[in-house]
Amino acid sequence: MTSQMNIDALVERRERLLGPGNPLFYDEPVHLVRGEGVWLYGADGKQYLDCYNNVPCVGHCHPRVVEALCKQAATLNTHTRYLHENILDYAELLLAKFDDSLDRIAFACTGSEANDLAMRIARTNSGGEGFICTNSTYHGNTAAVAQLSSIFEPIGGYGKNVRMVPWPDSYRAPDGLSGETLADFYIKEVRAAIASFQADGIKLAGIVLCPIFANEGLPNVPAGYMSKAIELVRAAGGYYIADEVQSGFGRTGEWWGHAASGVVPDILTLGKPMGAGHPISGVVANGALLDHYRQQEMYFNTFGGNPVSCAVGQAVVEVIDSEGLVANAKDVGSYVLEKFTELKVKHEMIGDVRGSGLFFGIDLVKVRDSKEPAPEAAGYVVNKMRDSGILMSKIGEHDNVLKLRPPLCFSKENADLLVSTLDEHLAAA
Ligand SMILES: Cc1ncc(COP(=O)(O)O)c(C=O)c1O
Repeated sequence: MTSQMNIDALVERRERLLGPGNPLFYDEPVHLVRGEGVWLYGADGKQYLDCYNNVPCVGHCHPRVVEALCKQAATLNTHTRYLHENILDYAELLLAKFDDSLDRIAFACTGSEANDLAMRIARTNSGGEGFICTNSTYHGNTAAVAQLSSIFEPIGGYGKNVRMVPWPDSYRAPDGLSGETLADFYIKEVRAAIASFQADGIKLAGIVLCPIFANEGLPNVPAGYMSKAIELVRAAGGYYIADEVQSGFGRTGEWWGHAASGVVPDILTLGKPMGAGHPISGVVANGALLDHYRQQEMYFNTFGGNPVSCAVGQAVVEVIDSEGLVANAKDVGSYVLEKFTELKVKHEMIGDVRGSGLFFGIDLVKVRDSKEPAPEAAGYVVNKMRDSGILMSKIGEHDNVLKLRPPLCFSKENADLLVSTLDEHLAAA
């Protein structure tokens, strides 16, 4: 049993050993000791429905993934400078999930490393240095990638090679614009960013976007925005880097988040769910781009794409396929969205409900008409849900959007528990 004393002692020990500034979720931190499927278990025996963790996409501790990991770890683990079938089998399996133009992969360990490598590939191929990103995002923590983070300002501030454009918010849309005119409003900003690079004599290398704008608050992207933005970037000699670290591997009810816009990226990055908890990430690109980059720079990542990681990655893809998890994300996802939309009718404080597949944002507002964000209410609900055994979080420019992205094996029964508990806490918020 975890008593409050034990929790306090763990927090004190953590601060002493890891130092302050290491964020913990919730007013009352959660001490987890076991996971299975969509369920997590606390040291005090409490059971939590996981509606937050996208990394264990196939469910916590999936037996097939655990078996693949253990078997390869007990046999051999080296790195990509030795021949090994696992690396090639996995590369083949994964690349078959993409458009034919995306036919090469490089492995790394984290989403940050993947984005860092993607930026290098864009730089060497374009001969440019300039990158465009949105004004409310996060793409990782290497020195180069941190420059694209508008959520946390990097040490030393921003360099000259980054221009941030407003993310395409269709809920708090300027002047009540919608549809194509709204897309065009935001496209003007992309055009202005490109012009500003030109004015400063900085050649464009590319645009880095999460195709579903997950960290921005999961907007309903105005139709035509992606295709027009990418067309402008390509016309200026830059590349479209799709950061699929959050949106990939079936999360949206499609294998890849970019499918919704129909725009195939030039370079694409993978991470989080790729190893269902094991650290593996990757950059997928057209062979010509990756090969040209490799002629300029030797890239080696000690742990990236090792035989154990590839065994795990392969098992993850096989489980997603054999258990029909992409279709499940679509099916259960639309059920949840429907239920959330019913909650919106009932609770004035829900300004907007959005999402795709099993990724949802519930935008909480003080007054529905004014759309004034309600970050305190979001904090209240997240903590109360935790007390009731349901894990979720919040995101967005105003920190007021409830963020839910459960493992892809989430069922309608799980959804009913989520919705009824949420209903209760929204009523009291
Ligand atoms: C969209 C996106 N890209 C990249 C990253 C960085 O991934 P990692 O923490 O594995 O370096 C994150 C992390 O939250 C992310 O949300």
